[in-house]
Amino acid sequence: MWTNVADQGNVVTKMEVSGRMHTVVVGGTGMLSGVTTWLAEHGHTVSVISRRPGRFSVTSDCHGTFHSITVDYRSSSELRQCVAGAMAQYGPIELAVFWIHSDAPDAFRIIADEISTHAENPWRLFHVRGSSAHLNPDPPPVPPACLYRQVVLGFVLEPDMTSRWLTHQEISDGVIQAIQNDWEHSVVGTLEPWEGRPR
Ligand SMILES: NC(=O)c1ccc[n+]([C@@H]2O[C@H](COP(=O)([O-])OP(=O)(O)OC[C@H]3O[C@@H](n4cnc5c(N)ncnc54)[C@H](OP(=O)(O)O)[C@@H]3O)[C@@H](O)[C@H]2O)c1
Repeated sequence: MWTNVADQGNVVTKMEVSGRMHTVVVGGTGMLSGVTTWLAEHGHTVSVISRRPGRFSVTSDCHGTFHSITVDYRSSSELRQCVAGAMAQYGPIELAVFWIHSDAPDAFRIIADEISTHAENPWRLFHVRGSSAHLNPDPPPVPPACLYRQVVLGFVLEPDMTSRWLTHQEISDGVIQAIQNDWEHSVVGTLEPWEGRPR
């Protein structure tokens, strides 16, 4: 689904929007709803992890499918079972987007390990992190076969030098851009000047 293409003399990787992958969006009913919808509109099977099911509907523009995995990702054994169950039903996961709160310190490892265990090929993980990742940019350990990409959420500096946090649309658009370009590290908005962030 990602191919190398020439771009002004450089070889860069781009995601092709055709084809069907099994994808998962952890926390895909909140600010990443736009990512969930975009993946389905481009024909992918999207498993969405959240405690309450999202309200996604298949329209004539949408060639993919949504599947809710309703689980509290702090419940480790249930989480592992649910992710394994989704892969048994829809195949190995090739693309994952994670937005996981810090009150679930094991969820990242559990989901990533489960995906790698069933992976037939290297799979991509776009890890969405809050702006505090600016102070601690080291990626977490990832299992074999995982191609780790980090998307850090920054803020918007307005022309009058006030600042604000990103809107849900800006967050989803930034994550989609990172996926399309297969960026290993990207920032949505800005992290500079750090002292200028909203308080
Ligand atoms: N730099 C920035 O601009 C920045 C950075 C971070 C956040 N934000 C903002 O902060 C706001 C709050 O963030 P948020 O995390 O509440 O965002 P959110 O994406 O709106 O909601 C969190 C997502 O994770 C799911 N979730 C939460 N806890 C879960 C659990 N224990 N198990 C399974 N799924 C769980 C939620 O569904 P369920 O509730 O149904 O489980 C939902 O899908 C956002 O609206 C965003 O705009 C801004």
